[in-house]
Amino acid sequence: MSLPLNAAVIEPLKGAAPPDQPNRQMLARALDQALAAIDRNLAHFGDDFPAPSSIDGVYPAIGNIEWTNGFWTGMLWLAYEATGAQRYRDAAERHVTSFHQRQAQKINVNHHDLGFLYSLSCVAAYKLTGSAVAAEAAMGAAELLLERYQERAGIIQAWGDLNDPEQSGRMIIDCNLNLPLLYWASGHSGDLRFRQAADRHIEAAARHIVRPDGSTFHTFFFDTATGQPRHGKTHQGFSDDSCWARGQAWGISGFPLVFRHNGDTRLLDLSKVLANYYLNRLPDDGICYWDLIFTSGAEERDSSAAAIAACGLLELGRSLPLLDPLRGDYERAALRTVRQLSEHYTDTDGTPGGGLLKHAVYHKPHRVGIDESCIWGDYFYLEALVRLSRTWEPYW
Ligand code: GLY
Repeated sequence: MSLPLNAAVIEPLKGAAPPDQPNRQMLARALDQALAAIDRNLAHFGDDFPAPSSIDGVYPAIGNIEWTNGFWTGMLWLAYEATGAQRYRDAAERHVTSFHQRQAQKINVNHHDLGFLYSLSCVAAYKLTGSAVAAEAAMGAAELLLERYQERAGIIQAWGDLNDPEQSGRMIIDCNLNLPLLYWASGHSGDLRFRQAADRHIEAAARHIVRPDGSTFHTFFFDTATGQPRHGKTHQGFSDDSCWARGQAWGISGFPLVFRHNGDTRLLDLSKVLANYYLNRLPDDGICYWDLIFTSGAEERDSSAAAIAACGLLELGRSLPLLDPLRGDYERAALRTVRQLSEHYTDTDGTPGGGLLKHAVYHKPHRVGIDESCIWGDYFYLEALVRLSRTWEPYW
């Protein structure tokens, strides 16, 4: 047996999720409501995309220029899978053409979010339709992501130019979700460089981003010349030593998604550590504050982190052995989260351009998207509904 990747201690879970679980009718209602919002927004945005976060509840329309564009395309693929309706596929296929141009022309691709962009648009398209154009675009994006790999440190640099001294050697927990693009690229091309980089990056994340108490740093710096770990630092959280809720959710979901690709069960152990830390810090309704340092009071919730965590708990649950004592707790916690989101956090106004989920936080320290809809929250809420309603193969 291999040694654990991190000696972080798992907290015992404080309480079991109460038995107010969603049933089939509730799920069907929530899915219908989500699809109605997607139809409204398809008419509203045309071939444009929703911005990362809403302003006064409505997403501005943008071109294919942000790190978040893949979430809207991913929602169209989920809607297509859930209904079989051609209109979603037609729109998503037009997006694939746009994503192909984006990587070929290198339009705002100087960052690690290529996985978010291309797994949900082009890898999804390839898996669902076999599109050669989608596969070519996803391979192009994977090549760009691999260029960011720092061999000595064994990490993919998150942001900025590789020579930018402020960004040099910075990895971030969110990148866990970008790694599946690299595994897909190795599988598709037979080129093992992608997989090897992803294996080293996830190991570095496991060893250095996870703290001994099971919380996570948002970002962590390495010395790229020597490969030595330096220090953790937040970017979107409350402080360097607090635990940004969405970062923790990226960890809970990303470690088991990478397990799908590399089979390293130590990643599941780590996801459990993160999950228990997260679940033990939820307020009464089970929807986290934007930073887990807050457990009560007037700070904003981050419904988008809750939706990501719900998908992560479902992924973790399905990956654990049937007899794992925590498996049922994770599935119940995910179900409860989805129920709370659908009953108390969905946008029922029917405004064109509005989100599926209200009450998310994009970037509190920069005062962007506070108590607004965030497009990734909408994506993961829909992914959770689809995961609960049917047998589903992730695009990740
Ligand atoms: N990956 C950036 C964010 O979660 O805001």
